[in-house]
Amino acid sequence: MFRSVMLRFVLPVALASCVVAYFGLPYIQRLLAEWFRSDVELRAQLVMHSMEEPITDLVENGSEAKLRAYLAKITTDERLLAILVCRPDGKTIFKSERTPPSISCEEEGNTDLARSLIMQLHSGSVQVSRFDFDSAAPKPFRVLMVHDLSFVDRRQRTARDFVLVFVGISILLLALLIVMVAWLQLRRWARVLIGDIRGKRFFDNAHSSRESLPILSQVREVLAEAEERQRLEIDFRENWTPQALQQVVSDYLNSAQVIIVSNREPYIHNFDAQHQPVWQLPASGMVTALEPIMRACSGVWVAHGAGGADRQTVDRYDHIRVPPDDPTYTLRRVWLSPEQEQGYYYGFSNEGLWPLCHLAYVRPAFRASDWRAYEEVNAKFADVVAQESGTASPVILIQDFHFALLPQLIRKKIPKATIALFWHIPWPNAETFGVCPWKREVLMHMLSADILGFHTRYHCQNFLDTVDRFIECQIDREHMSVTLQGHVCRVAPYPISIEWPPRWLAQLPDIPACRAAVRERHGIGAEVMIGLGVERWDFTKGIIERFHALEVLLDNDAGQRGRICLLQIAAPSRGQLPAYQALQQHTYSEVERINGKFAQGGWRPIVLIDEQQEPLRVYELYRAADFCLVNSLHDGMNLVAKEFVAARDDEDGVLILSTFAGASRELPEAVLINPFDVNETANAMQIAMRMDRDERRSRMHLMRRTVKENNVYRWAGRMLMDAARIRQRQSLPSMVSRFGAFDR
Ligand code: G6P
Repeated sequence: MFRSVMLRFVLPVALASCVVAYFGLPYIQRLLAEWFRSDVELRAQLVMHSMEEPITDLVENGSEAKLRAYLAKITTDERLLAILVCRPDGKTIFKSERTPPSISCEEEGNTDLARSLIMQLHSGSVQVSRFDFDSAAPKPFRVLMVHDLSFVDRRQRTARDFVLVFVGISILLLALLIVMVAWLQLRRWARVLIGDIRGKRFFDNAHSSRESLPILSQVREVLAEAEERQRLEIDFRENWTPQALQQVVSDYLNSAQVIIVSNREPYIHNFDAQHQPVWQLPASGMVTALEPIMRACSGVWVAHGAGGADRQTVDRYDHIRVPPDDPTYTLRRVWLSPEQEQGYYYGFSNEGLWPLCHLAYVRPAFRASDWRAYEEVNAKFADVVAQESGTASPVILIQDFHFALLPQLIRKKIPKATIALFWHIPWPNAETFGVCPWKREVLMHMLSADILGFHTRYHCQNFLDTVDRFIECQIDREHMSVTLQGHVCRVAPYPISIEWPPRWLAQLPDIPACRAAVRERHGIGAEVMIGLGVERWDFTKGIIERFHALEVLLDNDAGQRGRICLLQIAAPSRGQLPAYQALQQHTYSEVERINGKFAQGGWRPIVLIDEQQEPLRVYELYRAADFCLVNSLHDGMNLVAKEFVAARDDEDGVLILSTFAGASRELPEAVLINPFDVNETANAMQIAMRMDRDERRSRMHLMRRTVKENNVYRWAGRMLMDAARIRQRQSLPSMVSRFGAFDR
């Protein structure tokens, strides 16, 4: 502090004082010299006046001895150096003893000389004053009076020294004063600021009196901004909310238009029995995750209009504002012909890519006609996205394996768009993916995205390995990016999640009420433990394996008969496909067989609900269950696991979770199982039934914290912030010139 005060305050004052002294001193010296000289001149005249009569008499009477005696007395004056009495012709009448050799009557013969002049002699300066006496008289003469001026030089030097010492001491005192005042003032400001920082009072107007302090108000403003930024950052890191997400879109993406593209629409309209359109939420983890995002960000969601009443509920632009009960964003429906739906959706997507990416040992089917339909539908969606895009650089979030070709198709139409493709299902290893006849086309199209997202790092690595195997490009494994034809595509894990808190919870009663309602509805006795399964009816979910595990448990431990019930929700899905039809048949027959084997009294080990349930009902089931069984054979993430955890605000219930579901990476506190090992699954059910309350609470507490912190707003927020960073980088002038103004 001392140094900075010296530099900022004292030094300029000192410099200014030196400048004043430098230019002021000569002026003062000149002034002093003039004063002294005019004093000497007056003195000379005074002396001359008093001498005028006696000297005239003495010169005219020619009394030289008397003249000498008279003038010798006068020249005893210390300042009066010499007196000369001269004839006008230059003859000396009298010359006192101390007369300097350079002054004589001859030189003063010239009558044009000034009456008074300064001369510089060896001994110092002198002033010579001339007085002429009666030039008309018979004996005219003149008197030269020489005054010593060396005292003027001495006094000038003394005055200069005094001024310099005075300025020096003043600077020193001033410096001390400034340092002291600055130190006291800074100490006071620091005290006030520290108090403000400790008390976080920047937003508090009650403290506005402090604003009157200079500088302090500005510092407080800056600190207030920093506090606000920090608050947001903390929100982003720990408490992701819809508001934090909106903030990301407005602050980081400059309120760019956000367009979501997915096959499954968030709201499906069908006709009820009275032929009235009614809306439904689909059974889709992807929709569960994305819908809260769209509510927060507005924008447009482009999706296949698959519902029976979809066409009747849109406007002439195929738009409908949703959610129907509180519209916040626009759903743009895209119509497909039955052939297109068959080839693109049932064929290439669900009989090709779905089994290809899930290691559930269902063989993928690849047909050229399906691929053509897939290409056609992807192109159709690209057209629609271009129509919906209201700006030159929207942010486009493409969802899932239905749209692997979209990144490149959209890039061609909207070159400056920021495109992210999120792959909601696993990505297999390179050998497995290699069986796809159009693997290169798929990969090349995907790599036109700016961001490719997967649930886990493992899936990202699998993708990079696949690209490495089949595409000639540059892979940066450290920064997880692929550069293809000058375009950089970032490959990153973004583990998807659910909204926190789930909005359905607010509408549900407490846990005992939910348990009672579920038991009554499904005829489950109070002494029976409820194991819950909630799934789309899909071969990847391990539904049959779960029944077999229950059978093993009841075979091995007869004491559990009548004490456990597996409540299975199987939401029909892709029912036109043989693999799904076979699964449904297999499910029915196994439920019948196992229930037939163990049923006693009113108790059945399996209760199968073979239709989709409303989210509210599903959450009621989560709250009623003793344990939830998620034994997917392979799953990108599995949001049922996270929903179950979110529903248990009583911190009770046990989650049994497959290690082949992405969720197991985030929820290691669950009871983890290999779903292919039915004995291990049976054992896990036993553990869940016997786990004491403290352990259940501890595990659930940890899992709830994870899901709360890593909620779906964080998932979207991280991806959008990465998108924002990419946009900023792309807007750098050097990048524009390097990549030809986004011409990729
Ligand atoms: C998975 C996919 C989603 C899909 C959902 C339901 O979760 O990742 O994209 O929407 O299954 O499948 P469906 O074929 O009915 O849309």
